[in-house]
Amino acid sequence: MKELNIEIAVKIYDYEELDAADRELMDAAREATNRSYAPYSHFSVGAAARLANGIVVTGTNQENAAYPSGLCAERTTLFYQAVTTLAIAARNEHDEFLESPIPPCGACRQVMLETEKRFKQPMRVLLYGKKGIYELKNVGELLPLSFDASAMK
Ligand code: THU
Repeated sequence: MKELNIEIAVKIYDYEELDAADRELMDAAREATNRSYAPYSHFSVGAAARLANGIVVTGTNQENAAYPSGLCAERTTLFYQAVTTLAIAARNEHDEFLESPIPPCGACRQVMLETEKRFKQPMRVLLYGKKGIYELKNVGELLPLSFDASAMK
């Protein structure tokens, strides 16, 4: 029997420690939570992606009475083009930003990975929490032992 230990590297920042571009991106993710449509979960998620050309696009979770027809904020933002940094923030049912960094769901991590591979552009990820902001240098750090096209060869 062998054991494989997989380590991930997470840097944790206070908001003030982010540079101006990342503060702008995180502000956009936080502001986007206001455009969430979450009448069922009352959990409002916003995501902001900085594209390779510098432009920032945002998305929010969009729920549906037929629950599986809804979509997470990360995926309404992606399916788009090369993203250099993706910032994510969320507010709970009391309208408060989360204390701990919002962890993207598994399906969103998979879509983030596909975007990274498709455009051959590492995607930095910033996860907002009031206690600290997690920075991951690429999506692989969020998805060890991941499935991508190379696994089908
Ligand atoms: N949600 C996101 O938009 N992103 C995440 O990373 C986690 C969950 C949404 C889906 C659903 O609308 C609500 O949050 C509760 O799960």
